[in-house]
Amino acid sequence: MNDRHDRRTSPAAARNRGFIEQVLAAEVVNLLAPGGHVLEIASGSGEHVVGFAAAFPELVWQPTDPDEESLRSIRAWAALAEDAAGSSGRANLRAALRLDVREWPWPVLRADAIVCINMIHIAPWEACLGLMRGAGELLRPGAPLYLYGPMKVDGRCTTESNEAFDASLRARDPSWGIRDIEDVAAAGRARGLELSRVLAMPANNFSLVLRRSG
Ligand SMILES: C[S@@+](CC[C@H](N)C(=O)[O-])C[C@H]1O[C@@H](n2cnc3c(N)ncnc32)[C@H](O)[C@@H]1O
Repeated sequence: MNDRHDRRTSPAAARNRGFIEQVLAAEVVNLLAPGGHVLEIASGSGEHVVGFAAAFPELVWQPTDPDEESLRSIRAWAALAEDAAGSSGRANLRAALRLDVREWPWPVLRADAIVCINMIHIAPWEACLGLMRGAGELLRPGAPLYLYGPMKVDGRCTTESNEAFDASLRARDPSWGIRDIEDVAAAGRARGLELSRVLAMPANNFSLVLRRSG
């Protein structure tokens, strides 16, 4: 049973979704055949994945999160989208699954692409390592892992506001913090993923695309 009160909203997710969709269209969706499966890690409120499923209806979207409240929110957004879609349904949006990237094996058997938005800085570094491990195991050669969020370049935050954000994250939990693109790339490389694109995004964020090597 889904309750509308379970639906959480994230102003940031509402603001960045369109920009992320543009990059997904050019860097991820274009590589996939119709019916391809996209695994979203750390779906949070679920607003992104419900929007992606509507924007890219030829693909199958699998939301996940380890947090029960988030899972309820994703299910509630999915139910709303299903109601709005009427009898045609939202057949390309799978039921949300509990998935903590640090726990292997993951409860999914197939991923033709993996998307992870705003997770690696709000989680211990082990979450980034777990993400790379899972992506390295699941993705086939050439398949993309898409990451979005604030990043450091050459060990430094790119703006003063991100420096303050980094400090506030570390104050909340010393194992959190904005990650350096080169560290993320190295963690990917260790699991057979090569960094292929770095794109500057609005509001001092970055899109990274890694691809499974052959
Ligand atoms: C800031 S929210 C981002 C949510 C959503 N992707 C967005 O951009 O609105 C961070 C999310 O990471 C998830 N998360 C934290 N640790 C995780 C882990 N070890 N494995 C998977 N997800 C994790 C949290 O549950 C939370 O939903």
